[in-house]
Amino acid sequence: MILDQLVNTEKQNSSQMAGFPAARPRRLRISPRLRAMVRETRLSPDDFIYPLFVMHGEGLKKEISSMPGVFQWSLDTLLGEVEQAAGEGIPAVLLFGIPLAKDPVGLENFAPDGIVQQAVRAIKRAVPEMVVITDVCLCEYTDHGHCGIINSGFPDRPDPHLPEGYLLNDPTLEILARVAVSHAEAGADVVAPSGMIDGMVGAIRRALDGAGFQHTAILSYSTKYASGFYGPFREAAQGAPKFGDRRSHQMDPANSREALRETALDVAEGADILMVKPALPYLDVIHRIREAFPQLPLAAYNVSGEYAMVKAASANGWLDERRSVLEILTGIKRAGADLIITYHGREAVQWLK
Ligand code: PBG
Repeated sequence: MILDQLVNTEKQNSSQMAGFPAARPRRLRISPRLRAMVRETRLSPDDFIYPLFVMHGEGLKKEISSMPGVFQWSLDTLLGEVEQAAGEGIPAVLLFGIPLAKDPVGLENFAPDGIVQQAVRAIKRAVPEMVVITDVCLCEYTDHGHCGIINSGFPDRPDPHLPEGYLLNDPTLEILARVAVSHAEAGADVVAPSGMIDGMVGAIRRALDGAGFQHTAILSYSTKYASGFYGPFREAAQGAPKFGDRRSHQMDPANSREALRETALDVAEGADILMVKPALPYLDVIHRIREAFPQLPLAAYNVSGEYAMVKAASANGWLDERRSVLEILTGIKRAGADLIITYHGREAVQWLK
């Protein structure tokens, strides 16, 4: 009886998965055509969201030293870049603004003639089919470089029970809501809150709906880690904190169960698209969220530091850039991302042709 059972299980196993020499996986790798037929993951230009930095001025195109090939654009030069990207098949851009002046609240962030508001209007006029996504955060606009209102002031801080320098949650929500509405008024298709402030998605959804922007979507930076890989971005967007760090709101790199909780909250608050950021050290988190939240599109942000590493190694001749970039992007998609926010966007679209 026991012997019969053993024999049967053995038979079942071998019919599911024949061993060598009958099984030879290399048969399906013998030619490019055959490899293409059994390929499980395919990159497409539709997968890419292309980040762009816009600043005041005219005729400007300033390269970021740590991100070769990435520039700060003035409005006029930005339009040329967006037109080219559209022509090559890039479906969406993600805008970051560099304001003229910074202050404790970040007033230009919700000004009708703020740099991002101007850029959205200009892009929508020149390239109406381009999906325009805007970053909604305070760090590029505040003089202290933090993503919200800071608990500081002498003799009385806004909240005497919280530490000096603490990023205040609920007062920040009011500002995020104003910023999102002003981006929607300018014509943004999607707003992307990136501050990891509790309740940000709900506050923005309510404000958008209240202002008549029921159709403006929210791409939430739902799982954003306190990462060392944002270094080059902070030069590009001029948004480095003047003191302290972002660990009281961005997630601890050691956690992934907490990512499920963060994501569930954003889903309940009305997020339309989810995100994991950065991408490469968190492929397991991308996979986990894809499995746990199959109903919603998931984006991954291949961040500035990830870009800078590949660029630096390629410039030294240590990596084949094209091959490495396509492998990285494929890996992010294979892990479960539907969309990839990447500075490699334009290059990748050319290479895929
Ligand atoms: C915050 C924001 C940051 C990035 C995107 N949005 C910086 C931060 O949180 O410190 C980083 C993007 C990158 O590194 O490419 N507005």
